[in-house]
Amino acid sequence: MYTAQRQLEILLEFGKVINKTKSLDSVLSSMAAYARDIINADRCSIFIYDSKTDELISKVSQDIAPIRISARKGVAGYAALSKETHIVVDAYNDYRFNPDVDKKTGYLTKSILAVPLLDNNENILGVFQALNKKNSVFTNQDAEILLLISNYTASAIENATLYDKLRDTQTKIINKLSSAAEFKDQETSKHTKRVGLYSGLLAEQYGLSKEEIYTIELTAPMHDAGKIGIADKIMLKPGKLDDAEFETMKTHAQIGYNLLYDEDNDYLKTAALIALEHHEKYDGSGYPNGKKGKEISIFGRIVAITDVFDALTSVRPYKHAWTFEEALQFLQEQSSKHFDPQLITLFLQEKESIRAIYNDLKD
Ligand code: C2E
Ligand code: SIN
Ligand code: SIN
Ligand code: SIN
Ligand code: FE
Ligand code: FE
Repeated sequence: MYTAQRQLEILLEFGKVINKTKSLDSVLSSMAAYARDIINADRCSIFIYDSKTDELISKVSQDIAPIRISARKGVAGYAALSKETHIVVDAYNDYRFNPDVDKKTGYLTKSILAVPLLDNNENILGVFQALNKKNSVFTNQDAEILLLISNYTASAIENATLYDKLRDTQTKIINKLSSAAEFKDQETSKHTKRVGLYSGLLAEQYGLSKEEIYTIELTAPMHDAGKIGIADKIMLKPGKLDDAEFETMKTHAQIGYNLLYDEDNDYLKTAALIALEHHEKYDGSGYPNGKKGKEISIFGRIVAITDVFDALTSVRPYKHAWTFEEALQFLQEQSSKHFDPQLITLFLQEKESIRAIYNDLKD
């Protein structure tokens, strides 16, 4: 048994766990494990309510596979429907108990404590359930503690849902912006998609985090957003640009940065950085700022490679499409000159995955 002091300490630890972890599943796992220890239960489960099917889906249940149960049955269902805590001291002699789950899992439920998880507007988010109090039955004190933990849990679920929605919206806006830039160009959306996918692949090989891989895949397609600021006369010129025209063309990097940069949005910050740096060269001879080596961000160094590879293997108003092998040969020749040699090695190692994207998304 824990003392009140120890119980308070454990509750305070929750705050730290929630703030440190981004993944909802891992927060819920920690919550369930803490709750089990603190109220001396054999097992704790967190169910999330699915309004589409009117079911409760177990997110965390120690040692057993996820289950779906009707939100209108069983003690968890009662807690969800009534939005009140339910304590059951002898499951098999209680009308609220639904033995179907035990039949499936082979578990023998004796006592149950079920607390509803409610959002700020008192809508049901799920149920926090503890099973089989060790050597005893659940008390009102256990119920109070689980209620407290459930308040934390409910806000973690609510925050995660909001975060998902926000990210969804951001992704949509960014994809729309990418299409807008393409509209100006004569190229297909396949081109921007390929640059995103090649970049994600290279980021993964380089060992960037999942979040960074996702970010580059999403934002690399916008590297040429600044081309909407370049006159069609130059953009669509069938032949070679003269020096003055090429100087104008070069401004698309800074224009793209200015267009995309947003202090409050990490995706748009990365998108802006990529737009700014995608024509910098490893040896310092690129534009607009002549950055050299690792002065160019990893995102800029990656997209420098994937953009040129895709430009070479595509038809442009001013050039024919090079073959797959010719383009790889060019990257190899430019290793340490135009491109980061470490990244070129990784890109060439991934030749077959690159070829798969190249074949799948042909113009
Ligand atoms: P882009 O067509 O997307 O090309 C991106 C980059 O791929 C180019 O950046 C260049 O580094 C590489 N690249 C593309 N085609 C070739 C090629 O035939 N040979 C070689 N060695 N590299 C190639 P860059 O040069 O900074 O050009 C930026 C953008 O300026 C190009 O984007 C394109 O929109 C435009 N541009 C460049 N040169 C010409 C040109 O001669 N005529 C026209 N109409 N546009 C051009
Ligand atoms: C785009 O279509 O926006 C990208 C064009 C390019 O990379 O050449
Ligand atoms: C230029 O036309 O001056 C340079 C363009 C290029 O080489 O891609
Ligand atoms: C990063 O891991 O995000 C940057 C590493 C690098 O610039 O090489
Ligand atoms: Fe560009
Ligand atoms: Fe490009």
